[in-house]
Amino acid sequence: MKSVYDCKITFEKFDPLRYADNSIVTDALLSELYGINGDNVYILPRGERAKSLDNVACLCHWFADRQLSPQERVVAVGGGSVGDTVGFACSIYKRGIDLLHVPTTLLAMADSAVGGKTGVDCDGVKNLLGTYWFADALVDFRFLDTLDDIQMQSGMGEVLKYRLLNERVQCLYEQNAPLEKLIEECILFKTSLCREDPFCQNKRNSLNCGHTVGHAMELALGIPHGVAVANGIYYEVLLANKLGYCTNKYADFWREEVKKQFCVYPLTQEMLRLTLQDKKNSDGLVGFSLPPDFFSVKLPFDAVLDILL
Ligand SMILES: NC(=O)c1ccc[n+]([C@@H]2O[C@H](COP(=O)([O-])OP(=O)(O)OC[C@H]3O[C@@H](n4cnc5c(N)ncnc54)[C@H](O)[C@@H]3O)[C@@H](O)[C@H]2O)c1
Ligand SMILES: [Zn+2]
Repeated sequence: MKSVYDCKITFEKFDPLRYADNSIVTDALLSELYGINGDNVYILPRGERAKSLDNVACLCHWFADRQLSPQERVVAVGGGSVGDTVGFACSIYKRGIDLLHVPTTLLAMADSAVGGKTGVDCDGVKNLLGTYWFADALVDFRFLDTLDDIQMQSGMGEVLKYRLLNERVQCLYEQNAPLEKLIEECILFKTSLCREDPFCQNKRNSLNCGHTVGHAMELALGIPHGVAVANGIYYEVLLANKLGYCTNKYADFWREEVKKQFCVYPLTQEMLRLTLQDKKNSDGLVGFSLPPDFFSVKLPFDAVLDILL
């Protein structure tokens, strides 16, 4: 298994022809837009629908049909959904096969292609099944040229998370730095956190901020992941403020930042009930990573309802 320290991130142009000898996995839209096709290409469904155990099984059968050995490299060209699914399949096929992520969405470039988390959804729970599988990444910013506004906005939701977590990212954002620079800084910060805590036992948990409420809203409303994370940040900052963890000024600032860029959806009890399935929960309590320190906090569900509704 490759360790987090062995992973290389390069910023260069992706040419599918250079990978003609590799097994490439992508989705239907990317295959069409970028002419990624041929015998060595496997096409997954678009978006979150890719993230199923059935698709992982089909991919593993395809790897077996192609008689891939663990030394060979699979190339995942796509957003977080492709990356999470292919990463999962690569981590279990013959106990692990080498993988290169080629992220094609803003969200995948700034966040999901780095850090080794894989996962598929199961029984209505996001990422219920998953593994750690560390992989190299090749970032080609030209993919952003074809991304629609909704997906760009979703990516900005995870970028907002990095602004909240890291002063350098926030500084660049305030200086109107080019998006490429912002992405590079998110990657740098995530890489450093993952090196300190590869398996999410302490510091890396901060990356889950906004995700407890966010995942619940994503499932209930079917909104893109990053938009849900931004909404999650909006509500979790309020939670932190009401619990006395952060000042009114801090809470007001970040809630305004969310409102400037995203539609804020109202919360319902039914939606919040989905937080009861969160992977960070234990002892009947709901787990959060709350600002400003992003420590892990466990709260009774009723207390969450009282504060947020
Ligand atoms: N593993 C991790 O660390 C991690 C981190 C954050 C999010 N995620 C996961 O990532 C998933 C979301 O990924 P996403 O936001 O990248 O979206 P996505 O992979 O679901 O893709 C969204 C849509 O964008 C299209 N698309 C992708 N690249 C394109 C391009 N260059 N041009 C035009 N269209 C393009 C796809 O075909 C798809 O229809 C969620 O399941 C989330 O849980 C994982
Ligand atoms: Zn996320």
